[in-house]
Amino acid sequence: MIENPRLHWMKDENIRPYVFVRSENRIQQPGSLHALDWFEGKPPVYINPLEMDQVSFGNQILQIEAQAFGPSNMAMPRWVFFDCAVTPGFVAGFAHRTSAMDPKLRKMLNLSDEHEWTPMSLFIIIPTMSLEGEWVAHNLCSINSLLPKENRYYGLGFLSKAFGLWYANVNICCGFTQWGNAAIKLHSYYGPFQILTAYTPLHSYARTLSYRVKVNPKMWPNFFSKDPLENFEDQFQASGQTIDPGQDSSLIDLQRKLEMAKGPFFLNPQEVLTKDLGEALNLYKPKV
Ligand SMILES: CC(C)(COP(=O)(O)OP(=O)(O)OC[C@H]1O[C@@H](n2cnc3c(N)ncnc32)[C@H](O)[C@@H]1OP(=O)(O)O)[C@@H](O)C(=O)NCCC(=O)NCCS
Repeated sequence: MIENPRLHWMKDENIRPYVFVRSENRIQQPGSLHALDWFEGKPPVYINPLEMDQVSFGNQILQIEAQAFGPSNMAMPRWVFFDCAVTPGFVAGFAHRTSAMDPKLRKMLNLSDEHEWTPMSLFIIIPTMSLEGEWVAHNLCSINSLLPKENRYYGLGFLSKAFGLWYANVNICCGFTQWGNAAIKLHSYYGPFQILTAYTPLHSYARTLSYRVKVNPKMWPNFFSKDPLENFEDQFQASGQTIDPGQDSSLIDLQRKLEMAKGPFFLNPQEVLTKDLGEALNLYKPKV
């Protein structure tokens, strides 16, 4: 299990990873690709979204999601959850045994006590038709974004995605976030972070960044330690170009370069983590 005093909640037996998955989509040999002991001793709770009696668990996932994404007007419609998330992919995260959860917390989050387990986070991941075995990280959300500081479970968002990637043996993962969203600090640590689109007018929000990572759990401890990544400078060199997330013109300029095959461009996770959101970031190219 991961050792870090700020992650003490991981030792709580009443908190377990969950996998909300229909039986046909169950991963055959979970956790067999990446060598990682962070989730040892924490067997997941399995819940089948196609069973009527499990609807209260699904309702609570949706409720957390709606509270977290409501302010940005991106709450997921129920049918999207069913058609585009649960049917082709699965949802993972951490859940608290309801009987052992502080009722004040449930009240703060407006969650019911109908189900044995209460979700605390959600990470939705969907396989793509790419021949390289690429998955899409469709949604990530943790109750930390809804709680006062003193009630948060440090690392819950990061570990929810880490668990899902490890559990499903994900080699390549793409995903999206909006420039300026704190989530970029987490997303950039799962593997070398390549920018796929810097400006995305087909999305509801053109200022969406889409990215691809080749999953590398060796980078994950550095998200918590904030130490520089050992091999980053061996693999990447500064391109001399930067991106300014606050300026549409900068995003469009980079997007044009990507379309003209002048990439690939990568971000330096440690720079993303330590700089303020919205500060200009250096663009890196792989060393030949
Ligand atoms: C983004 C989100 C998933 C992060 O999960 P989380 O549980 O809050 O974050 P974790 O506890 O795993 O990680 C904490 C670290 O992440 C970074 N971080 C998280 N939120 C941050 C914020 N608002 N501002 C700056 N850094 C932040 C920091 O590095 C922090 O560590 P630190 O306290 O030592 O500085 C969560 O805030 C969330 O659900 N947001 C609303 C929905 C959303 O925008 N999802 C992302 C869609 S792409």
